[in-house]
Amino acid sequence: MKKLEELIQIALDNKENSYSPYSHFRVSAVVETKDGHIFKGVNIENASYPVAICGERSALAGAVSAGYKDFARIIITGDSKDTYPCGVCRQFMAEFFDQDTEIVIANSKTDYKTYTMEELLPHSFSKKDLG
Ligand code: THU
Repeated sequence: MKKLEELIQIALDNKENSYSPYSHFRVSAVVETKDGHIFKGVNIENASYPVAICGERSALAGAVSAGYKDFARIIITGDSKDTYPCGVCRQFMAEFFDQDTEIVIANSKTDYKTYTMEELLPHSFSKKDLG
């Protein structure tokens, strides 16, 4: 497992890969699996605006596509102070995150806040509802 500060730095550096020519708002996310693998994501926009994918889902899609579904933490950073995940990304994360997965909203290596999935999406609809 990497140090949190190191993961935050990776997420901050990765913002430059954001493809956001329409909003000019960059989002970067880094997920770390429970066995220490790292996957990076950015928001990727499209001329057909609704087609865009957020940074958080971009990172998770890469991880799940590579066969990883157990996550220790996600670092999220964007161009605003305290860039929180949108509702769609919260639902997407809730599919995979457990009560121990840390969601870190980072502005810098020393300025960040950590949340649980339950704090960001209480009373969620999930696989438990489908029996
Ligand atoms: N965005 C994300 O990447 N993650 C979020 O959770 C919120 C919004 C992106 C989508 C779009 O490319 C830009 O930020 C402005 O909405």
